[in-house]
Parts: sequence; structure tokens; C-alpha cells
Amino acid sequence: MQTNSETAAAGNIPFPEHLQNQKVRDWIRDVAALCKPDKVYFCDGTDEEYDRLCHLMVESGTFRRLNPEKRPNSYLALSDPTDVARVEDRTFICSLRKRDAGPTNNWVDPREMKGTLNKLFDGCMRGRTMYVIPFSMGPLGSAISHIGVEISDSPYVAVNMRIMTRMGKKVWEVLGDKDFVRCLHSVGMPLVDGQKDVAWPCNKDHKYIVHFPEERSIWSFGSGYGGNALLGKKCFALRIASTMGRDDGWLAEHMLILGAESPTGEKTYLAAAFPSACGKTNFAMLIPPKSMDGWKITTIGDDIAWIKPGPDGRLYAINPEAGYFGVAPGTSYKSNPNAMDTIKKNTIFTNVALTPDGDVWWEDMTDTPPPELMDWQGNRWTPEIAKETGRKAAHPNARFTAPAAQCPSIDPKWEDPSGVRISAFIFGGRRASAVPLVYQAVNWNFGVYMAATIGSEMTAAAAGNIGQVRRDPFAMLPFCGYHMGDYFNHWLQMGRNASNPPRIFCVNWFRKGKDGKFMWPGFGENARVLKWIVERVRGKAYAIESPLGWMPRYQDIDWGGLDFTQDQFNTLMDLDREAWKKEVLSHEELFEGLYDRLPKEFMLMRELLLSSLWRSPEHWNLAAERY
Ligand code: GTP
Ligand code: SPV
Ligand code: MN
Repeated sequence: MQTNSETAAAGNIPFPEHLQNQKVRDWIRDVAALCKPDKVYFCDGTDEEYDRLCHLMVESGTFRRLNPEKRPNSYLALSDPTDVARVEDRTFICSLRKRDAGPTNNWVDPREMKGTLNKLFDGCMRGRTMYVIPFSMGPLGSAISHIGVEISDSPYVAVNMRIMTRMGKKVWEVLGDKDFVRCLHSVGMPLVDGQKDVAWPCNKDHKYIVHFPEERSIWSFGSGYGGNALLGKKCFALRIASTMGRDDGWLAEHMLILGAESPTGEKTYLAAAFPSACGKTNFAMLIPPKSMDGWKITTIGDDIAWIKPGPDGRLYAINPEAGYFGVAPGTSYKSNPNAMDTIKKNTIFTNVALTPDGDVWWEDMTDTPPPELMDWQGNRWTPEIAKETGRKAAHPNARFTAPAAQCPSIDPKWEDPSGVRISAFIFGGRRASAVPLVYQAVNWNFGVYMAATIGSEMTAAAAGNIGQVRRDPFAMLPFCGYHMGDYFNHWLQMGRNASNPPRIFCVNWFRKGKDGKFMWPGFGENARVLKWIVERVRGKAYAIESPLGWMPRYQDIDWGGLDFTQDQFNTLMDLDREAWKKEVLSHEELFEGLYDRLPKEFMLMRELLLSSLWRSPEHWNLAAERY
């Protein structure tokens, strides 16, 4: 049954004057008619609007304002405990043909899925305001940017999108009568018959994160959290954009982008793909150790890179985002001072703990935890309680949303519409065993093979079996919007087309020793590995051949100021033949499903890898090499 206000909302939509695009208008009208919100509101992206929406959420209990003396203009949101991360098993790529989604994606026939969704979305915004959120991924008006419009019934989404994208009324002008990506989102909890709202509305029974690649549209239902709800990020800038890139000859990647400046002022840009919660934000903002005097790292992006060939045939990357949606736990002045300074103000925190004086805290932010906190579920938390029960103060996937411009290490070119020229790609995963600290692929094709077969332990960024090793090709397993075999071929083709393609490296910061502790200090110390990579790219650093590719010797790494022995390094770089044979055999698991579209080159490279391992000693070790 429709009430008068619903009819009014659907029939009488307050379109802003500068929104003349008929396709947008029609779509908004259709969505309003389907979702039946009480009101339709068009976001303009102003500060005034941001403050107003935040205030509204303070009133409704979604937000708590943090102490303005500690954390100016910042808020804390605590989610429903069942809505804390991406839901990969509820994520679908509904291409017209099943084979175009490939075996690594969930697929349902798009017509069937539309039927399901139309039922779920029918009346799903009752009692709520429908926010229309126009945004640009990439600098406004740049030739490599793309425009999306998110319709959402969540003010939390609206204010987060304001930070994460270029959002607001200017987008309508830039859009003109062009096409755009349709992003429809609902928390899936209509308010009917005077039902009272909750602090974090979501739908506990039904969650759907659905992509229609041919239509370039996204429908997301039932979750208010992160990549499930901020549709510009993983849904658009990776899943939909990767299909755009396949069609138009570019790449949308789960990569950070950083600049490395040497003491002589030479600047090298690199992009690195690590799976979720495996160190991208940290690496993008790292501060080199004091001994590496004169080296400076600057940040372009911490999560997503759009990479296109420039007029010179080289590859150029932009960060399509405007903010960081970063993992809070583990972030500290020790591990990532640039992130800590970025989140000093104007930041939204989700699922971290609240201190009695109105500031935030999470595990490892400080050496000693505050004596008492309110944890992410709103309960009293003390270090003693934690010791007894193992309860965390912050959820392991707690996040901050902060404007990129506030990052002290932000690169002067971060909004340059022509992007930065990429000299190297780095791929990594979280591996407690087997995988050495760093190695370099002997050529582009081998690099693509290595990136395609990277394994990583699953993290709290997605609901699932945390700690279990899975193949995560290019850190894109949950984010590739089409057949993974086609994706590998696309990468090989990008290398063939590029002039002087970037060099490819693999890293693992997470190898553990017999004592169960990380063998490598990581964080800022990763700059030592980065320096070797930059110098390799520039033809200045030495390496020796290993069964996996090129590796630095102990003396090829800058060890100034760090007590790390040759023995420790050799152990960190050790290749256990049996473990690696298992590793390479396990590539087959990934390949099996992809077989009909797997690049022919891959089988050959796998054979080469196996035979070079076969020929190598049981423990191929830098110590055994004569150099
Ligand atoms: P997403 O935002 O989910 O894509 O994650 P991310 O790849 O940006 O990961 P992030 O940099 O936020 O790091 C995730 C976790 O890994 C944090 O708890 C970090 O403290 C930890 N971490 C990052 N870099 C290192 C490192 O070099 N060594 C170790 N041991 N831990 C690290
Ligand atoms: C990731 O999971 O890789 C993230 C967080 O960056 S989310 O935006 O939730 O996808
Ligand atoms: Mn990510």
C-alpha cells in the first residue's frame, strides 16, 4: 500500500536545476518508484551539508562526536556486529553469459537476479530518505575519470562518499548528457508502521552485492559497511572498471601507488598489489629509516590504481579515490606516522574503541592500552578483561575514513590527470612460510605468472576463514569483474603493447620464524627492499639468479642502522624445494577451473619453474651460492 508521501516522493522529485541529464532523471524516478522512500535528497557535497548529515546521525545514534579538542570534526560509528566486512560469498558478477564471469566469481543469470533484487528493493526505503550522491572517480573533469551516481538510503554512506570520492553538484555539470555508472544501495531495513530506527540499520537475512558488467550497474542490498556500501570503491573502481579496462585497453587494479625520491632527486613511481589488510596503506605512506638519509616516499594512493598507456606507450597510473578507508588496528606512530597524522581531524572512525575522554583507540595504537574503554560493541573493556576473554577493543577490520589531502606524504602529482609513469609493479601476500622477502621476475610474462599465482592468508577484511592460504591472483580474486583467465591474457597483452613495460617484483613481509614471530621488521624498514627495487629498475643494483628469479645478495641491501645479520637474511630468503614444489603444484588448483581461457604461456612457465626447482638443491640458499 502506498501512502501519500510515497507517491509524492516518487512523483515530485526535487531535481536540482543543473541536473538536466535525462538518463539520470529517469533512473532516479524509477528507483524512487521502486524503493518508495519518504524523501529524496540530492547531495551537493558542501561542508554545510556534511556537517548537517553528521549532526543528523549524532541525533539518530549512528555517530558519536569525538572530543573536538582531541579529534576535531571527527566521529565514531559502531556497526551491527553482523555487518563488519565485505561479504564475498554474497558478491555476484551477473554478466549475460556465465563464462564471462568465470569460475572465480559467483554468477546468477542477470534476469533471474533482477527478479530477486526487484522484490527486495520494492519498498525497501520506506520511512527513510533516499540520498542521490553524484561522484567522480578520478579528478573532476579529467579525461581518465569516470562518473557514477550512488543512490543510497544511508546518510553514513553519503558522508563517507564525500571523503572517498569527488562528490557533489559540480559532478552534474561535468556529466552533461554523458553516461554514468548506476550504483544503487539500500541497507535493506524499511521503517514501517512507526518502527524505530537503530544506530546501524542493515539486513541480517539478505545481503546482495551485485554487478551487471554489460550494463555497468551495481545493486547492493542489506549491508552498510565499507566496500559493500561505498559503491565507488571496490564495486565500481575495481569490479566494473576492470571490465571497462578489458574493453578499452587499460587496467583497474587493487594497488597502492607511491613515489620514491632518491637523495639525488630522481623520482621513481611504483604500484603495488597486496590483498586486503596485507600492507598497502602502510607501504604507500612509509617513512624510510634514518640511515636512508635523503630518500623520500610520497603517496599517490593506498588501495586502487587505474593504469593506462600514455602517448609514449608507457604505463601511467592515477588514484581514482580522494580518501583513505584504512585498517585502524595496528596503525600507530611507530608503524605508520603519516597515517596517524592524516587521521588527526575530519575523520570518520568505524568499529574502533572510545576512550573516556572522547578519543579513539585500537589494538597496538599505543604500547600500553588505556585502563578503560568502550569497545566497538559498546561494552566496557579493560586490559584485564581482554586478557581473560581475548575480547578486542576494536574490531580487526575497524576502519578510518580520512581525506587524502590530509596525508603529510601526499605526492604533489596526486591529482595530476595524466597520472604518474609506473616503473615497477610489486606483488605480495601474507605468507608465514616458504615465500622469501623479495625476488624479481626475469621478464614481463614471468611476472604476470608470478602475480597470477600469489597466495595469501585470508584476513578480517572479508568474512571467511581467516588465516587460510588461498590463491589471490594480483590481489584481485574478490575484485575482478570478469573471467580470471581473460584477465591474465589482458595483462600479457598490456605488456606486449607497452613500450618498456614496468619491471615486476614479489615481496613477503610476513614470513615467520620457528618462534612464530615475524622474521622481518617490516613497516618503515620495507624501504630497504624498496631501495633495491628502485635501483634494479634503474640498472644500478646487483642480483643473482635463483629458481624463482632475481634475488638480492646480503650486500645488495642497505643495512645502515639495522641489526640484521647475513644469517637472518639468508633464512628469510631461503627456498625450500619441497615446499615450493607443493606451491607450484597447487597453482593447478587455480588453473583447473580457468583452463579453457588460461594463457598458453602459463603451462610452459609452470614447467620451467618446476624444472628449475627440480635442479636446485633441497634448500636453495644465498649462503650456498658462490659470489
Ligand atoms: P585494505 O585497506 O584492506 O586493502 O588493507 P591494506 O593492504 O591497505 O593493509 P594495511 O596497510 O592497512 O595493513 C593491514 C595490517 O597489516 C595492519 O594491521 C598492519 O599493521 C599490518 N602490516 C602492514 N605492513 C606490515 C609489515 O610490513 N609488516 C607486518 N608485520 N605487518 C604489517
Ligand atoms: C579491502 O577489503 O580491500 C578494503 C576495504 O580496502 S573495503 O572498502 O571494505 O573493500
Ligand atoms: Mn583494499
